[in-house]
Amino acid sequence: METPTVERLKINYKTLEEFQKFREYGLQELSMLEDLEANMIENDSNSPFYGIYMDGNLIARISLYRIDGKYDRYFQPAQDYYELWKLEVLPQFREQDYGTALVEHAKSLGLPIKTNARCGSNDFWIKMGFQPVQYDPIRDRGENPYVWTPPGVSLQ
Ligand SMILES: CC(C)(COP(=O)(O)OP(=O)(O)OC[C@H]1O[C@@H](n2cnc3c(N)ncnc32)[C@H](O)[C@@H]1OP(=O)(O)O)[C@@H](O)C(=O)NCCC(=O)NCCS
Repeated sequence: METPTVERLKINYKTLEEFQKFREYGLQELSMLEDLEANMIENDSNSPFYGIYMDGNLIARISLYRIDGKYDRYFQPAQDYYELWKLEVLPQFREQDYGTALVEHAKSLGLPIKTNARCGSNDFWIKMGFQPVQYDPIRDRGENPYVWTPPGVSLQ
């Protein structure tokens, strides 16, 4: 199968309308909408989301927040890394490698990645080359963290 194109999503009313099809529609999206309405951000600003379109419709998305190295409690040496969340492929498009394409895109940015494996997705993260970290109750606060490290990076 052809590798799908992963695009950085713009924050605009069209994108926010597309987001309503996703299960994880919540405070992050509502706050983007408020910022747009209040002209706090410009239409078409870059968002932390990347996605895949099919026939003009968004079918899969991922959010990647760059965390400053001074807050890094996972990687050795301590460095900037991506917090990955809101990975979701619309149900009718699952099991067709779109999730893999989004995760591969995140890896191609070259920094370590941390996610909170939810919805019984542990096996998916293992397949993506991620590993669970040893749980630290103060740092992880009820999360189920899985990480991916590029060559030369290890865990703290
Ligand atoms: C998890 C999710 C993003 C996977 O996307 P996808 O496009 O279906 O995944 P892919 O087609 O790229 O699958 C890659 C591999 O992972 C497997 N896989 C997919 N979803 C899985 C899951 N939930 N658990 C375990 N394995 C899974 C696939 O079978 C495939 O295995 P294979 O290489 O042996 O054939 C998608 O199922 C989804 O949106 N789920 C709901 C939200 C969610 O769970 N998000 C992630 C955690 S918050």
